[in-house]
Amino acid sequence: MNSRARQLGTKVVYQIYIRSFCDSDGDGTGDLRGITLKLDYLKDLGVDIVWITPFFVSPQNDNGYDVADYRAIDPRFGTMEDFEELAREARARGIELMLDMVFNHTSTEHEWFQKALAGDPKYLAYYKFVDAEPGATAENPGEPPTNWESKFGGNAWAYEPRLNKWYLHLFHLTQADLDWDNPAVRAELADVLRFWQDKGVSCFRFDVVNLISKPEGWPSDETDGKHFYSDGPRVHEYLQEMVREGGIDGNVTVGEMSATSLENCIRYTNPANHEMAMVFNFHHLKVDYAGGDKWELMEPDIDALRTLFRTWQEGMTAGGGWNSLFWSNHDQPRPNSRFGDTDRYWYESSTLLPTCTHLMRGTPYIYQGEEIGQTITDFTSIAQYRDVESLNYYQIIQERGHTPEEAFEIVHARSRDDGRTPMAWDASENAGFTTGTPWLGLNANHVQINAETEMADPHSVRAYFKRLIALRKAEPVISEGDIRFVDGAGDKVIAYERTLDGTRVLVQCNFSGQEQQALPTDGGELLIANYDSPSAQETLHPWEAVAHIWR
Ligand code: GLC
Repeated sequence: MNSRARQLGTKVVYQIYIRSFCDSDGDGTGDLRGITLKLDYLKDLGVDIVWITPFFVSPQNDNGYDVADYRAIDPRFGTMEDFEELAREARARGIELMLDMVFNHTSTEHEWFQKALAGDPKYLAYYKFVDAEPGATAENPGEPPTNWESKFGGNAWAYEPRLNKWYLHLFHLTQADLDWDNPAVRAELADVLRFWQDKGVSCFRFDVVNLISKPEGWPSDETDGKHFYSDGPRVHEYLQEMVREGGIDGNVTVGEMSATSLENCIRYTNPANHEMAMVFNFHHLKVDYAGGDKWELMEPDIDALRTLFRTWQEGMTAGGGWNSLFWSNHDQPRPNSRFGDTDRYWYESSTLLPTCTHLMRGTPYIYQGEEIGQTITDFTSIAQYRDVESLNYYQIIQERGHTPEEAFEIVHARSRDDGRTPMAWDASENAGFTTGTPWLGLNANHVQINAETEMADPHSVRAYFKRLIALRKAEPVISEGDIRFVDGAGDKVIAYERTLDGTRVLVQCNFSGQEQQALPTDGGELLIANYDSPSAQETLHPWEAVAHIWR
């Protein structure tokens, strides 16, 4: 087994959505000092790397994914001294920080975009500007260059009357896509990487980084356009250059890959190509999108989920690639509410999901609050939502013919705010997150579901996560072994085996509230299970997850 599997396979990453983690100064928004206060909590959990979502200067139209200055810290999150203290304190505990680089686009408040707006040709060439028809006006801008859809709804082009040009924004209209075909842009971004490495940072996450290379000639067809620019024509070349010039070859890096393919992800992560250490792909998080549409509800399709895990796990292994393992992040509803049954089987659902991913081949990610079983929001009104995508789609869903009640039900199940409610530290009024007014409402169930309660209970969800993390570090078969999916159990079961040098682990997860046929485990030793009396050979209990080992 190669050294990379050893390097990446023993690590666990914890994601912090900074504005919702811990507020040290009572303004209702989490901050860097709040993270420093919780380092012992993270150390105790056993994680190695902490990914912090963007805390750079930003107007916050997309909660920091609209960066106005890559080298400065937004005052609402703290100061550079706060960051340096956090990095020092983390390192003292053996924890590395991972920074979130949003390089596909900048905020329109970024100095580069502002200079472009002032007509400076150097900076006009930093973005994807296209001339509008002569005589176009704000009221009558004419046809945009393509019919591509913004990920947040509507056309992906905005008309700028001061220039009589369109600019591309694959996300919000204040997030302008950079022109990676311009070598000066690539040099600027490599420089940003060196800036943060000089501050001692070595791990990086790259936001939607497979969207950086756009096709020539601005093509359109009857689709939303994403197939033109996802894994675009020069993406591999640009990533190789960024890694080389930014000095991050061999570092722990993860690329967020939107609408990607297995073949491309093998290329992104096979070490021979010197691109990313690992990738996020999202295919498994679309198995409950009716007709492939995030904004149409259906029950998760477990057969599709199994097939996707099999394809990606076995395919990445065969191609020498490396997966990130995750259910959850700041863009996803809480997975226990989504894939499990938190009313009847909260503990089982909240532990089944991580068992399924943490024992796979790759690097597991834990999103804040997942380790204590936090659930989606209990919001009852659209006025409680803050996310730009949710608010846009609440309207769009109604324009597509749904009633306001249906639109609310859909947003309630699918909103990015479902995973963004503040971390529940204790049972107090604001869950120990803030002494002020939280920027986004808490779920009332924080009285039962919170870190303090979880830490006091040796059989809690959090205690179970700690065991999973410890197993990955103790058992080379988990960190390095091969993987093969196994058929023959009940149709709601996902089962796979890991093998290394004569050791075998069998993992079985029942994604249903009914008993399911189990695979034989004779002679195996119990490795971990989310029931006190795990399945007796024949059947798996509702939402049971169990792993056996043969040495
Ligand atoms: C990624 C981020 C998401 C953000 C988008 C645009 O998908 O995870 O939060 O809105 O990129 O930067």
